[in-house]
Amino acid sequence: MIFPRLRNAIAFGGDYNPEQWPESVWQEDVRLMREAGVNLVTVGVFSWARLQPSEKRFEFGWLDRVLDLLAANQIGVCLATATASPPPWLTARYPEVLPVTADGVRLQVGARQNYSPSSRVYRKFASALVTKMARRYARHPALVTWHINNEYACHVPECHGPDSTRAFRAWLKKKYGSLAALNNAWGTAFWSQGYGQWEEIFTPSRAPYHSNPTQCLDFKRFTNDAFLELYDLELAILRRATPDIPVTTNFMGFFKALDYRSWSSRLDYVSWDSYPDPSDESAARRAAAAGHDLMRSLKPDRPFVLMEQAASAVNWRPVNMPKRPGVMRLQSLQAVARGGDGVMFFQWRASRAGAEKYHSGMLQHVAAEDSRVFAEVKALGSELKKLGVVTGSLVRNRVAIAFDWHAWWAVELESKPGRIDYAAWAQQLHAWFYAQNLGVDFVHPSADLSRYELVVAPALYLLNEKDGGNLQSFVERGGTLLATYFSGVVDEMEHAVCGGYPAYLRQALGLWVEEWVPYPEGRSNRFRFGRARADHRCDHWCDLVHLDGAQALAVFTGDYFAGRPAATRHHYGKGAAYYLATRPDAAGLDVLLSQVIKEVRLAPPLRVPAGVEVTVREAADAQFLFLLNHTNEPAKIALGLTRGHDLITGRLLSGTVQLPPCDVQVMRLPLK
Ligand code: GLA
Repeated sequence: MIFPRLRNAIAFGGDYNPEQWPESVWQEDVRLMREAGVNLVTVGVFSWARLQPSEKRFEFGWLDRVLDLLAANQIGVCLATATASPPPWLTARYPEVLPVTADGVRLQVGARQNYSPSSRVYRKFASALVTKMARRYARHPALVTWHINNEYACHVPECHGPDSTRAFRAWLKKKYGSLAALNNAWGTAFWSQGYGQWEEIFTPSRAPYHSNPTQCLDFKRFTNDAFLELYDLELAILRRATPDIPVTTNFMGFFKALDYRSWSSRLDYVSWDSYPDPSDESAARRAAAAGHDLMRSLKPDRPFVLMEQAASAVNWRPVNMPKRPGVMRLQSLQAVARGGDGVMFFQWRASRAGAEKYHSGMLQHVAAEDSRVFAEVKALGSELKKLGVVTGSLVRNRVAIAFDWHAWWAVELESKPGRIDYAAWAQQLHAWFYAQNLGVDFVHPSADLSRYELVVAPALYLLNEKDGGNLQSFVERGGTLLATYFSGVVDEMEHAVCGGYPAYLRQALGLWVEEWVPYPEGRSNRFRFGRARADHRCDHWCDLVHLDGAQALAVFTGDYFAGRPAATRHHYGKGAAYYLATRPDAAGLDVLLSQVIKEVRLAPPLRVPAGVEVTVREAADAQFLFLLNHTNEPAKIALGLTRGHDLITGRLLSGTVQLPPCDVQVMRLPLK
């Protein structure tokens, strides 16, 4: 259970910013929260200026009243530490707190997140504020969980100011110990970059030409660590005051700047913010599913919390479509279906002023009783009450995608043969499994892979010997690996591995790559499987492969390398390793992946019509089968031998059931 104080209820509520409203509105807020079944609200995220209006003055009275009111109404609080946006007095007095971009521009006060992660002054003031909050609210009956800061690095993914430069040098000293080691790792013999003093080193800000790639990669690692230090600083304070209150910070899914995997052990549970674009519902559900899977996989043995989503439209895309009726519910239950124990929103009441006034809230600008969105919120709240029994149950998958933030950072640095969108490629492969209702986790290549049958490694460009060895021994012991083009090209220093790529996977794959042909937009090639009559289009990238034991499943049919392998398979130990040397069209990918899952004998929990999502959550004494109809048509679902009660309607479901458009069924199944 992630929230002992909520007992076995799914967390339901949203960011609550009462400081934006007169106190007279608060009474109505809690009345409507109760009406909607809200049991948790996130308070204080952007309230630093209200809590500390000047350097020496703190004003907690208003927050005391908010928390007391919520407690009196049995509404729990996810208390934010308010450090996400330093108040204007702080940055006016200590401008060194402000972050500096790669171009040397100091980002001014007036929006939010206006601090450098390495600022000593910011750290001092943030610690002081958190210490006061922790002491004051440690025993407050409304306190359910702590929410540290907010979406770290979202707007300021890096800083090049003086504090950052100083901290970067200290980080490098600690990592390398000597300048000789640093010069070697950074390959500074190239372009006369050898460093003789630590003070000669700067963050990779704007330079005349490509900056040193290892320096850039180290700067990304350093920046991740700098933000993590901020989190750790607050965490230590909270732990001292409230060792039993769970702590989180809200992640953002496929967010490049932070290696969330390095954070996950410090969070009691993973929470994240999901904002798929309503203008393309099928892309939205794929994106949300991949996000839930990535986030869940960071702590696979605990449910996660959807900390923020929009009740309808957001305000920050060029065009912001609302969610049409039913979609908010469907996406909320999708989060639960994929392992979430909380469905939260940004925000409770839509703001009247400021940059987010056109962002939907659970309460819109119109009266609650006149609001379509609020009616849907209320209906969802009452349904979620019926789903409390699923809390604590887990999603268990047999397929994993190897996904590494360091590989992501490295492959997208400049000066590469072509442009690779690492996360998009991983998500494209995820989408195929999603469409088949085959559950997928995301793992680090060094992870214990014993629970998986199949591991997919998309463009795993940076791969060290140890992690390559881990993937190879997974195959040796009977697993199936599918690696794709531009994998295993560099080690962790971003030095090319010589002697044929993908260096540390060569044995398992039974091949080596000599060179590659990246295509510009609009250029493509074709490839053909075995004796198939039709061929398939491929684009973006072609690796030129030499077989060394593997068998070609498909070959390119065009360009100067026609006849060379486009997809291969190799027996290795007790397992098999596939290689995909290009980016195929949908039909080509389908042929290959269908063969792979057939060999691995993977099947979805239930065969359903396209557009219906099926997942299973497992508890010690039951299984929960989720069926979500994402289409605009009723779906006929043959349950076969599966029978069970729908937790939402209470009906016994068996035989063939009709699932209306946008509708969801959650069946409790007896254990087999
Ligand atoms: C993020 C932030 C919120 C809000 C929403 C708007 O998730 O955490 O404060 O700005 O975006 O979508």
